[in-house]
Amino acid sequence: MSKEIENHSNLNPSNNEPFSSVMARHVSRRDIMRGGLSLAALGMLGGFGGLNMARAQESGAQKTPLALAFESLRGSRTDAVVVPEGYTAQVLIPWGTPLDEQGPTWHHEQEMTAETQARSVGMHHDGMHAFPLGKDNASRDFLLALNNEYIDQKALWAPRGGPTNADAGQRPADEVRTEINAHGVTIVRVRKQEDGHWVHVLGDAHNRRFTSATPIDLAGPVAGSDYVRTRYSAEGTRTRGTNNNCANGFTPWGTYLTCEENWPEVFVNRGELNIDDARLGLPTERGRYGWETAAGTDGEREDEFARFDVTPQGEEPRDDYRNETRTFGYVVEIDPYDGQSRAVKRTALGRFRHEGCWPGKLTAGEPVVFYSGHDSRNEYIYKFVSDAKWDPTDANRPGEGYDRLALGAKYMDQGTLYVARFNADGSGEWLPLEPDARVADGRTLAQALSLAEDDRAGVIVHTCDAADLLGATPMDRPEWGTVDPVSGEVYMTLTNNADRTAENTQPTYTHGGDIDAAGAGYATAPTNAANPRADNESGQILRWRERGDDVTRFDWEVFVFGAAADDTTNLSGLTEHNQFASPDGLWYDARGDGQGILWIETDNGYDGVAEQTNDQVLAVVPNALSHDSGQASVVDAGNQQHLKRFAVGPNGCEVTGIFATPDKTALFINIQHPGNWPANPDAATQDATRAAADNVRPRAATVVIQKDDGGQVGV
Ligand code: FEO
Ligand code: CA
Ligand code: CA
Repeated sequence: MSKEIENHSNLNPSNNEPFSSVMARHVSRRDIMRGGLSLAALGMLGGFGGLNMARAQESGAQKTPLALAFESLRGSRTDAVVVPEGYTAQVLIPWGTPLDEQGPTWHHEQEMTAETQARSVGMHHDGMHAFPLGKDNASRDFLLALNNEYIDQKALWAPRGGPTNADAGQRPADEVRTEINAHGVTIVRVRKQEDGHWVHVLGDAHNRRFTSATPIDLAGPVAGSDYVRTRYSAEGTRTRGTNNNCANGFTPWGTYLTCEENWPEVFVNRGELNIDDARLGLPTERGRYGWETAAGTDGEREDEFARFDVTPQGEEPRDDYRNETRTFGYVVEIDPYDGQSRAVKRTALGRFRHEGCWPGKLTAGEPVVFYSGHDSRNEYIYKFVSDAKWDPTDANRPGEGYDRLALGAKYMDQGTLYVARFNADGSGEWLPLEPDARVADGRTLAQALSLAEDDRAGVIVHTCDAADLLGATPMDRPEWGTVDPVSGEVYMTLTNNADRTAENTQPTYTHGGDIDAAGAGYATAPTNAANPRADNESGQILRWRERGDDVTRFDWEVFVFGAAADDTTNLSGLTEHNQFASPDGLWYDARGDGQGILWIETDNGYDGVAEQTNDQVLAVVPNALSHDSGQASVVDAGNQQHLKRFAVGPNGCEVTGIFATPDKTALFINIQHPGNWPANPDAATQDATRAAADNVRPRAATVVIQKDDGGQVGV
């Protein structure tokens, strides 16, 4: 996320019970269960009891769990990355690093141009994933796919003293083109040298950028439909750009998934909003950066700026860009191995502010599953289930050239999209967003949305309203998810939800009108008496498990609640050694035998924790929790020693994006929007733990954390 670009309004118009309320009832039920019921009795119940019983039977839970072999950090508030004793942290590919030899080498006084930015690492690193180039060397030499979520205009235009007409008036075309090119995705080959130091491979044929202007294909139900015809693509099969790419995902067949999150704000519609755009919070006066104001200037090519103003201007959709917004809000698939391939927007996975997209447990002969969340207050969690059954021969074959995007079409263009309802008894239901699904009053979803009976594209375009109608549970801002590939358990962060009003207050609505009106939403929503965290500033992490015999059912529990140690609502018993708030990035780092480390990254705005520490990376071994206390497999006051603070970021940043090399000797994270870091304003690589002596032009960057002895990270 980024507090700078998130949308603070509550756009969900439904009357569905908020997750905070469901959770409150669930938590009190858990306390009762822990206090008085036997394990056998728990096993007869759904939710926590059933889930923990199932966990105890996992092979990994019965083995000696992994032990985290580092001292939990005390927290830090400096202009440097902090890692435990015996570890190093190295800066890699900071913003502006050239990808080829044709542009200038980065210099801290460099004035960035559109051309240079298009062939350099983008700004504000976020989700990322590694793609091996062959069977050997996967831990030393691979392709790094990296999201560049948004921009820091002050740093981008530092040599000019800041951006021109940032908030009002016409933006210069050169600044707009450069800003567009600083967004998107970077593909870059990286390599570990003999001395253990990591570098990027300048000029490698795989290196490339996808920006907010790159031509991208549409696929799935929305492709070729009336909803996406524009002046650029009269057939509705193509668009330009991917934007505000936050978290990510990957596929078993070797492609990268990048997800479009806070994209609505780069557009503006001064006319009547489509109800789906109203539901998503499209601006009506000016786009976030005013890109549309450069329309008609300085040799504008193919409406490159005009397309950000989606106000209808012509007779019909193919005359203007009224439908441009409907080509955004998707999961985008990229083949990092093919430097010439176009990216593809996989519309079957829904249209909203996608945080990320994570594959579920993979089983031969079963559908392929992807989980995703809509990161806005009181929005939903989704699951996509492919029609095609997984064929293990489709698994990625690194180093071989073949059409991986054809496999993407096979598994991601046809399937069922579900939205989650969380019940207070610890059970959950996946509700299908099918045109013929029944809503509460007995109509079909298509009828309730005023769509034709078989209008699957319409359901996808109106994903949020469809989910409202089905009775999905509004969540406290879903962020990252991750899956234990052995058990299939899914973890997902809910970062916070600070704008709920007090109990018994009246809700207020966006866009006026009635709460049930399509396109209108809550501006504020009250909590209820049972909610222990009415103003949820510190977030929590959920865990759920599918019921194997029914694709529409799951069981869930809260794995850990964020809190400051001295909060009265410190429900997981955190201490000063591991207190955290606003969990965001998340990665289950499987280590074999059903064992793994859950890595947690934060994007905290909560004073109770921020007074002690900057944003951080924590580690916990879920199986160690079950081992210690028998039945308890969530974080609680009795197992605090298993949740440890592993790294802390520099002042001003959030910590995001995470993976380790297959041999587990290098952990990669991203430092986004640092205030005054890295220390050397010019170096491409350097010690991430050094603080700058003076003010520097800040640069988001990847950081590689390794052990001095070359061993596995964390253990
Ligand atoms: Fe870009 Fe939801 O964080
Ligand atoms: Ca995020
Ligand atoms: Ca609605």
